[in-house]
Amino acid sequence: MKNFDVAAVVSGGASGLGEATSRALAARGVAVTILDLQEDKGAALAGELGGDATFVRTDVTDEASVQAGIADATGKDRPLRIAINCAGIGWAQRTVGRAGEPHDLGAFTRTVMVNLVGTFNVLRLAAAAMAATEPEEDGERGVVVNTASIAAYDGQIGQVAYAASKGGIVGLTLPAARDLSAVGVRVCTIAPGLVDTPLLGSLPEEARTALSAGIPFPKRLGRPTDFAELALAIVEHGYLNGEVIRMDGALRMAPR
Ligand SMILES: NC(=O)c1ccc[n+]([C@@H]2O[C@H](COP(=O)([O-])OP(=O)(O)OC[C@H]3O[C@@H](n4cnc5c(N)ncnc54)[C@H](O)[C@@H]3O)[C@@H](O)[C@H]2O)c1
Repeated sequence: MKNFDVAAVVSGGASGLGEATSRALAARGVAVTILDLQEDKGAALAGELGGDATFVRTDVTDEASVQAGIADATGKDRPLRIAINCAGIGWAQRTVGRAGEPHDLGAFTRTVMVNLVGTFNVLRLAAAAMAATEPEEDGERGVVVNTASIAAYDGQIGQVAYAASKGGIVGLTLPAARDLSAVGVRVCTIAPGLVDTPLLGSLPEEARTALSAGIPFPKRLGRPTDFAELALAIVEHGYLNGEVIRMDGALRMAPR
């Protein structure tokens, strides 16, 4: 997609990877709708981006909530063609803990609900809206970029819930792209390694240095702008489809 005179939705767009992507899209002139639970950060970012940027408080697990977010984007003066899925949560717990207690089932369900079901909820509703637009070059109507994690492949001890939720996103990427080939909507997924977002920023400097040392090259944490650049590259590259791209400096995570 070379024409950026379009509308976009970015879930989790108020923080971290989603925020960087919202900024990058707005810088290219895209009318961004930020979908996030964080009202203060989301509204402030939309105000800062100006132009046609808006914020809609959204819970990605809720059907009506995402519909309202999509309606905001389709109500703008250009077609909705870009959906970026960044909303997500983490959870760390072993399958059976040291004291013999089993993994909390509610926490497992909640992690899968937000990360996997939430991603699919935005994907399906955004794609349905894109399907109703006039096609551009190659018959393309839009593109969806999801966010998995390298934990989908190298999940560590305590990452069973998170890895399952991200593995689900990896798994749906190809069939979703196949389904949506009928309407000219591409679907790709980014599997980031360790990226320096508010999530990792809360770790002590020592822990961050240790994490960086394990990354083959470049020997640094990923930057949110690295993610945003890749997301935009996927949007621009009309022949990328049905693929999951690791963005991790060749990091392969050890069991712990
Ligand atoms: N930072 C990393 O190293 C890293 C690595 C791999 C994958 N990821 C994934 O990237 C995505 C973004 O992570 P981040 O590091 O930017 O974290 P972040 O916490 O900075 O951003 C996540 C955003 O999602 C929002 N969110 C959470 N639940 C939501 C819900 N139900 N509905 C709407 N919004 C919701 C949060 O409010 C937050 O603004 C996540 O899916 C995460 O799993 C991050």
